[in-house]
Amino acid sequence: MATDPHPVDMEKVKANAERILGFLGGAVVSGMIYLGDRLGLYQALQGSEPVTSGDLAHKTRLHERWVREWLQGQAAAGLVDYKGDGHFALSPETAIVLADENNLMFLAGGFCALPQQMAVLERLPESFKTGLGLPYDVLGPEGARGIERFLSPWFRTQLVPVALPKLDGVVAKMQTGASVADVGCGAGVALLEMAKTYPKSAFHGYDISTYALARAEENKTKAGVRNITFHDARRDGLPEGQGFDFITTFDCIHDMAHPDTVIRAIRRALKPDGTWLIADIHGKRTFEENLKDNPLAPLMYGFSVLCCMSSALSEPGGAGLGTLGFHEGVARAMTAEAGFSRFKPHDFDNPINAYYEVRP
Ligand SMILES: C[S@@+](CC[C@H](N)C(=O)[O-])C[C@H]1O[C@@H](n2cnc3c(N)ncnc32)[C@H](O)[C@@H]1O
Repeated sequence: MATDPHPVDMEKVKANAERILGFLGGAVVSGMIYLGDRLGLYQALQGSEPVTSGDLAHKTRLHERWVREWLQGQAAAGLVDYKGDGHFALSPETAIVLADENNLMFLAGGFCALPQQMAVLERLPESFKTGLGLPYDVLGPEGARGIERFLSPWFRTQLVPVALPKLDGVVAKMQTGASVADVGCGAGVALLEMAKTYPKSAFHGYDISTYALARAEENKTKAGVRNITFHDARRDGLPEGQGFDFITTFDCIHDMAHPDTVIRAIRRALKPDGTWLIADIHGKRTFEENLKDNPLAPLMYGFSVLCCMSSALSEPGGAGLGTLGFHEGVARAMTAEAGFSRFKPHDFDNPINAYYEVRP
């Protein structure tokens, strides 16, 4: 009898099935984290003594049976601790990540646009066929809010006290009165933090997302800050002429359909002694290195298909760099190509982002 040239190892099949079921579990638990965040369940648990599902339902004005099932799932996933006798608690360490909106380690915001991000799956088969992706605005206002909540903890806790002082001469200029632009400003949180701290400076935000710009205006009004102007970059892009002392781009160059055009516009808009601060995703230089040495690679390739590469392919001829595509090697090459001569990497202790101080 001929031997099978491709024998199947059933132990490996079982191990693979378990691993793949784990991904389904992760997706479903992510949905439960979304609910916990949206319904204020984590916040209700934060700092509290162990509670029963009845206590938590009473506190959050929800139905006990639903809260009990949710709590049991959270305990099974290791997110909430089961204390016995029907009592559950959120440890302070998990509360920081899931309930403390202003903590650098807060991550629940990253789940708040999950329904919209997953709904896009219905439209992506068409993108795989046509090659054309979808702009950020297909995610609706929730998409803009999701990015805002995911990325804001760094802006609120690190940008002004930790990052800006490390840049050559930038703080001194902003203290006396500088002209500053944030390109791809999203909901404007980075600008708000800087504008509140440096009232003598003038700040400008540019984006192409209607929802992000609306959110930015709302945030500005709420904060009562007057020294920021937001611009719809589709009609009112960066001005020609070397007017800006400082330009920032946070997690957006890789999302752009034509990053080379925007980088050249930034070069033209920056004063000869100006500074451009780039924050972009910590990608390795090759796919092989990401595969071997980037624990966030599965998440980033997934985000890429759902949002980032999709946005960067949403116009004909789009660059489609992908979430991990504007890594240091590409950033060095593209900025040099646009006429920048200085490039200094910074490590601001962020596992997601790399930072580059780029100057003419
Ligand atoms: C991941 S979000 C980051 C938003 C913001 N910088 C932050 O950190 O919260 C990327 C943003 O880039 C914007 N964007 C994409 N292409 C753009 C372009 N050509 N010009 C300006 N903004 C753009 C998107 O609309 C989106 O708001």
